[in-house]
Amino acid sequence: MSLDDRRADFPALRERPNARGPVYLDSACMSLVPQSVLDAMVEYYQDFPGCGGRSLHRFAEEVGRRYEATRAGFARRLGRADPRNIVFLRNSTEAINLVAQGLDWKPGERVLISDREHNSNLVVWQRLVAERGIRIEVLPLADNGTFDPEALEQRLARGIRLVSLFQTSNLDGQSLPIQEITERAHDHGALVLFDGCQAAPHEPIDLDRLGVDFYAVSGHKMLGPTGTGILAAAPGPLATLRPLVLGGETVEWSTLTDHELRPPPYRFEAGLQNYAGIVGAGAALEYLARLDATEMRSREVSLNRQVTGALEDEPRVRFLGPAAPEKRPSIVAFTLEGVDPHDAALFLDEGYGVMVRSGRHCVHSWYAERGIPGNVRASFYLYNRSSDADALIAGVRELLERVPSSGTSAGTTGSAPRPASGRRRGAGSRATAARSARPRHRVARGRARYARGSG
Ligand SMILES: Cc1ncc(COP(=O)(O)O)c(C=O)c1O
Repeated sequence: MSLDDRRADFPALRERPNARGPVYLDSACMSLVPQSVLDAMVEYYQDFPGCGGRSLHRFAEEVGRRYEATRAGFARRLGRADPRNIVFLRNSTEAINLVAQGLDWKPGERVLISDREHNSNLVVWQRLVAERGIRIEVLPLADNGTFDPEALEQRLARGIRLVSLFQTSNLDGQSLPIQEITERAHDHGALVLFDGCQAAPHEPIDLDRLGVDFYAVSGHKMLGPTGTGILAAAPGPLATLRPLVLGGETVEWSTLTDHELRPPPYRFEAGLQNYAGIVGAGAALEYLARLDATEMRSREVSLNRQVTGALEDEPRVRFLGPAAPEKRPSIVAFTLEGVDPHDAALFLDEGYGVMVRSGRHCVHSWYAERGIPGNVRASFYLYNRSSDADALIAGVRELLERVPSSGTSAGTTGSAPRPASGRRRGAGSRATAARSARPRHRVARGRARYARGSG
């Protein structure tokens, strides 16, 4: 399938009259969906709008069949032999919360996280410190993407119950050696949880072979509809988790005084489920299965090289993460000296139709430690083409030309982090130049008011 044919499968990529782009470079936040996913969801509502697992009529039977087929599809994609180890949830955040809050922590037990985890893999642990007396150990990681096994060993030797790390970082795109970490953790008797949000969309994984205990995935980052998340667990550890929510579908039987829960995964899937979303996620998996992951990866690397190569000689551009694009294939993250990242994002969108992410990417802790108020992040996926990279490069160059390096906004290096309210389009005079550099006729008034832009 040619790239043009593939792009034609994604309705959101269609050109709009009198508008540049769309150049969608925010797939790390949420990917676009192909028409087949939309069709599958419409088909659910039009042809078999039932609730699975409860009624016995034909609609319910069909939705139950599709629901379980999607479960089997995720098991295949993620390398779990038994689909019963796949739990449907709303997103990765919920998957991580299920593990965190579902384990029977004793006071003093430790979880090991890295120094650049998404808030989804940080805040819940902080709450457990307060509520259950657990302790958080932090593994510092190198910005250049090199992994230090000694640092891991030192922490593991302190006695860790669970190692909970990203597989690929949403901040700078670096990946951790999942097999090595799993083996070392298991050698010390620790369980492992990997946040696979930024890895699973790009390549299949073999969780059973790797021995990973828990793995969190968001369907909406891999061509699926919003609100589709997965916990892919090993059977033993899954059975030890206490469900987060109880009620319909989780129960085998109940009396007025007692109940018995169903076996996993059903005990974790409370209430009427997101059937349309799950059916859509199944179609997304089918779409992904038709693609060559190696070809996808090399296209992402090539786009990343294109952007990195074009901007690395710009003295005001500073890249985050490993220098080599191959070590952060789908993400290019950078600061622009003297330009507020949110102003840069608005300029790129309004002037070039280029949609990127700006801010602290839900890793506020990392920025707070360094006193960096945020950065711009472009992320690539299977529908991006070379002209998308060109548009980003041209937009950044024009912005740098128009905005003096003396600083027009909150600054990008060395200054104190500003409040999390983020985007301050209308505030003060320091962002004036970047704002005035934006084409006036396209300024969407009021956007700043509701967009928090802090994440
Ligand atoms: C590494 C990482 N972890 C967790 C999340 C949270 O994902 P979700 O919003 O689907 O729960 C994200 C989202 O961007 C992410 O990139």
